[in-house]
Amino acid sequence: MALREMLVQLITLLISILLARAIAATSQPEPGCPTSCGNLSIPFPFGTSDGCYLDDSFFLTCNDTQYNPPRTFAGDEQVLDISVDGHMRVASNFAQDCFNKSGLLFEKSTNFSLSNFVISSTRNKFTAVGCDTIGVAVGEGSEGQNYAIGCISYCNRIESVDNGSCSGFGCCQTSMPQGATDFTVVVGSTWNHTNISDFNPCGYAFVVEEDYFNFSTLDLKDFQNRENVPMVLDWAIGNETCEDAKKNSSSYACRAVNSDCYNSPNGLGYFCNCSRGYQGNPYLIDDCQGLSISLLVLVVGSSWIYWIVKKRKHMKLKEKFFQQNGGLMFQQQLSRHEGSIEIAKIFTIEDLKKATNNYDESRVIGRGGFGTVYKGVLLDNRVVAIKKSKISDQNQIEQFINEVIVLSQINHRNVVKLLGCCLETEVPLLVYEFITNGTLSYHIHNEGRATLLSWEMRLKIAAETAGAIAYLHSAASMPIIHRDIKSTNILLDDNYTTKVADFGASKLIPVDQAQLTTLVQGTFGYLDPEYFHSSQLTEKSDVYSFGVLLAELLTGEKALSFVRPEKDRNLATYFDSSMEEGRLFQILDHRPVNEGKLEQLKEVAELARRCLRVKGEERPTMKEVAMELEGLRVMEKHPWVNVNLYLEETELLLAKTVPSDGYNNGTISVDNGCSSSTGYDSMKNQGIVSLNDGR
Ligand SMILES: *[C@@H]1O[C@H](CO)[C@@H](O)[C@H](O)[C@H]1NC(C)=O
Ligand SMILES: *[C@@H]1O[C@H](CO)[C@@H](O)[C@H](O)[C@H]1NC(C)=O
Ligand SMILES: *[C@@H]1O[C@H](CO)[C@@H](O)[C@H](O)[C@H]1NC(C)=O
Ligand SMILES: *[C@@H]1O[C@H](CO)[C@@H](O)[C@H](O)[C@H]1NC(C)=O
Ligand SMILES: *[C@@H]1O[C@H](CO)[C@@H](O)[C@H](O)[C@H]1NC(C)=O
Ligand SMILES: *[C@@H]1O[C@H](CO)[C@@H](O)[C@H](O)[C@H]1NC(C)=O
Ligand SMILES: *[C@@H]1O[C@H](CO)[C@@H](O)[C@H](O)[C@H]1NC(C)=O
Ligand SMILES: *[C@@H]1O[C@H](CO)[C@@H](O)[C@H](O)[C@H]1NC(C)=O
Ligand SMILES: *[C@@H]1O[C@H](CO)[C@@H](O)[C@H](O)[C@H]1NC(C)=O
Ligand SMILES: *[C@@H]1O[C@H](CO)[C@@H](O)[C@H](O)[C@H]1NC(C)=O
Ligand SMILES: *[C@@H]1O[C@H](CO)[C@@H](O)[C@H](O)[C@H]1NC(C)=O
Ligand SMILES: *[C@@H]1O[C@H](CO)[C@@H](O)[C@H](O)[C@H]1NC(C)=O
Repeated sequence: MALREMLVQLITLLISILLARAIAATSQPEPGCPTSCGNLSIPFPFGTSDGCYLDDSFFLTCNDTQYNPPRTFAGDEQVLDISVDGHMRVASNFAQDCFNKSGLLFEKSTNFSLSNFVISSTRNKFTAVGCDTIGVAVGEGSEGQNYAIGCISYCNRIESVDNGSCSGFGCCQTSMPQGATDFTVVVGSTWNHTNISDFNPCGYAFVVEEDYFNFSTLDLKDFQNRENVPMVLDWAIGNETCEDAKKNSSSYACRAVNSDCYNSPNGLGYFCNCSRGYQGNPYLIDDCQGLSISLLVLVVGSSWIYWIVKKRKHMKLKEKFFQQNGGLMFQQQLSRHEGSIEIAKIFTIEDLKKATNNYDESRVIGRGGFGTVYKGVLLDNRVVAIKKSKISDQNQIEQFINEVIVLSQINHRNVVKLLGCCLETEVPLLVYEFITNGTLSYHIHNEGRATLLSWEMRLKIAAETAGAIAYLHSAASMPIIHRDIKSTNILLDDNYTTKVADFGASKLIPVDQAQLTTLVQGTFGYLDPEYFHSSQLTEKSDVYSFGVLLAELLTGEKALSFVRPEKDRNLATYFDSSMEEGRLFQILDHRPVNEGKLEQLKEVAELARRCLRVKGEERPTMKEVAMELEGLRVMEKHPWVNVNLYLEETELLLAKTVPSDGYNNGTISVDNGCSSSTGYDSMKNQGIVSLNDGR
């Protein structure tokens, strides 16, 4: 059922009710008009007292002095029932002749006349009952034409009578002519009921509502016990057609707003009806109040059912996605890890819808080949970043789940924390802590920003990033290769604390495997050439990418730039050749150079160059890189501290924070144990090489 349609109707109804109140009543019953006589209800246009009926033809008398219960009369005819759909039922008398063995006892004819109403030709039948009976009706039509109809009924034995059907044996019927407004009925006998008066002393003739009269053999004997029979009249307004009537709006009787006009089917005039879906009296100005109770129930009921069905469908879909996205596997994993470490939470679709104001455009904080990132506010007021990926490779579900699990366990202050995910949507949604201050790329390459980025800050960012990657490579229960280290994946918070993000391309390396063959994936400018050629993924690929990042921090140049001459487009080669040619200080960024820490710059540059070695095995490990950078930082902060002291300090730090698998033997400080932060996402694993200019 069209819910919308019904709502529109409901609203139209309300409006019509309001409108109706504003229109002055004309040709309407006065207030206080009686609407019934006894228990017969009398709807307008009919009425029983002055000012209560539309015109004289609808005037009825209610006779409560002579009759109890009171009776209603139209002219001399008793009214049994009135309905606003243009019909009324009246009492119809019958003509009769009776005999005994001696001959005729009595006979009477009957007549009927109500010039304002038409005897329905479709719902009445002229009927004669008797076994020696001739019934005749003569009368006038509404246009003055005369008519005469009749039928003859015989039978010589009661047994020959067809009990229950009016078929000529004891009973006969014929149709009424169209448009008849009156009749006189007479009944006659051929043989004075000779030989049959025992079982059928009388003959009868009458006009009766077809559906009402069921002939039975009992009628041959006892029919006269009835007072009368019902007959149906059609009534209509005036003697004009709808079209003409509408022209004279003051007398047009279809007053209700939601009413329609119909020409009378068998005579002059028209009648009114409430429009489809409405009920009431179309002749009353604020009636046709539409939707009946049952219809209302239907509306409410069906919309309820519609809602339930929709909801159920929605639930099914959610469940399907949840399973498709490995939700069950995820739950199993969760229960296995229960209690061990703070782990990602499963968010519901409603949580995230609310958090993002139904994925409002204004909440979009990032868009790319991977999908869309929204800023959201959870119910507990935590600000989060919600990543809605574009693609979902069904084959990688298990891996996806595994990565979510692993990454959600990473609790490193320099890795963006994965708070949880939602698996009820077609594509899983990932929820991260929200990092306020944008990407490192923005801070390096944005004119106004770069000058704010001091050498000390750059060194801190480099050391923190290296520490985080080293931690991923060695500290997590299963080594993780990030695969997409670049300045746009390093985020900074208000305090310029580094947060490594986007583990969409990351791979978990089983401990017994040093390398992994994969589809080459990464970003041009940062992509390890060895990996690119061999498809052999090792931790050293991240080292290379980090080398590019270091060069970026040192020079302020983009990893890949078409502004530079062709041979220098790739920052890695440009950096390497410049150092080779002793031109390092010409390509460094002004800010660090102006700070005058030239020795340090040189050391970091050397480190970057080692990271950028073409052969992976010649590159340092991330642990070594991190250690070296951390050492430089300590010296920067406390130039008087010697290296030994630094080692002791880091050992102390490590004692507090290193994961329990004993992998680290006190060499690098990957985590100073301050804050809880962590990371991860991992789902956009398709595509081969993203053609990114490496910003
Ligand atoms: C009409 O009223 C009489 C008494 O006033 C009652 O006995 C009768 O059942 C009523 N008929 C209907 C159809 O309500
Ligand atoms: C009621 O009916 C009787 C008998 O038909 C008649 O005499 C009387 O005037 C009628 N009363 C009214 C108020 O019509
Ligand atoms: C017939 O009816 C009349 C009048 O009631 C009566 O006088 C006569 O005896 C009846 N005849 C028979 C045969 O019953
Ligand atoms: C038929 O109608 C006429 C005039 O309307 C009347 O004089 C006559 O008595 C009526 N006949 C019967 C049987 O009612
Ligand atoms: C005719 O039908 C009526 C009920 O419809 C029944 O009471 C009556 O006895 C029947 N007559 C005969 C002769 O069967
Ligand atoms: C019927 O009865 C009438 C008088 O009651 C008589 O004049 C007539 O001849 C009778 N007809 C027959 C066919 O018996
Ligand atoms: C009435 O019955 C008698 C005797 O059976 C028969 O002679 C006569 O014709 C019958 N009359 C009619 C009109 O059937
Ligand atoms: C006549 O018969 C029909 C069906 O056989 C029944 O529904 C209806 O109530 C009967 N009418 C009367 C007045 O008995
Ligand atoms: C229609 O009715 C009006 C008033 O009721 C009357 O004056 C007019 O003659 C009627 N027209 C026809 C064609 O019956
Ligand atoms: C980044 O942090 C700095 C220092 O807290 C602050 O001044 C600046 O407004 C922040 N930028 C953004 C984009 O949040
Ligand atoms: C930044 O540092 C201040 C002071 O140490 C601290 O209150 C605040 O929470 C830090 N902000 C973030 C995002 O870590
Ligand atoms: C850590 O140290 C222990 C003993 O000091 C040594 O047996 C172990 O091999 C070391 N592990 C690593 C990964 O260096």
